[in-house]
Amino acid sequence: MRKVWRTSCPEETRKVGEEIAEGLSPGDLLGLFGDVGSGKTVLAQGICRGLGVEEWVTSPSFVIVQEYEGKFKVYHMDLYRIEDFRELEEIGYEDYFYGEGVCLVEWPERAGPLWPEEAIWVHLRRLGTSEREIVLRRGGCTS
Ligand SMILES: Nc1ncnc2c1ncn2[C@@H]1O[C@H](COP(=O)(O)OP(=O)(O)OP(=O)(O)O)[C@@H](O)[C@H]1O
Ligand SMILES: [Mg+2]
Repeated sequence: MRKVWRTSCPEETRKVGEEIAEGLSPGDLLGLFGDVGSGKTVLAQGICRGLGVEEWVTSPSFVIVQEYEGKFKVYHMDLYRIEDFRELEEIGYEDYFYGEGVCLVEWPERAGPLWPEEAIWVHLRRLGTSEREIVLRRGGCTS
């Protein structure tokens, strides 16, 4: 399955997040790929909102993982500061990647070989000052 959206403000990106959330179940792992400022955290805010998280979601940069309670548990990870994927083994990443909650990961490429092919991949791309393209792939779709 592959889906593409284009948005022109942060709130529209959050709405896309809510739509994505409708298709999520406990145990799902989502990678949010994209440059700095492409909108990964904004999309995560929308996904969390769609999953019933009432807390305001911010970037978890300094803690690597932030846990929220919504319809299910939600783990929001930001791997930007990971320098070596072995650091993830030290923090017990399996509990989040393969845990009982929905796991949202910014900068998943930092996980290197630990990032599973079978995850849901979301790519965000900046098209203009406030235009973004969001592409979601799941189920090993490569087209
Ligand atoms: N259509 C849009 N969708 C999302 N964000 C937008 C959009 N238009 C403008 N923005 C702005 O782009 C920025 C996106 O920031 P955000 O923190 O979500 O990026 P990020 O990908 O998480 O970056 P980082 O790699 O630093 O974590 C915000 O300042 C937001 O207001
Ligand atoms: Mg971010």
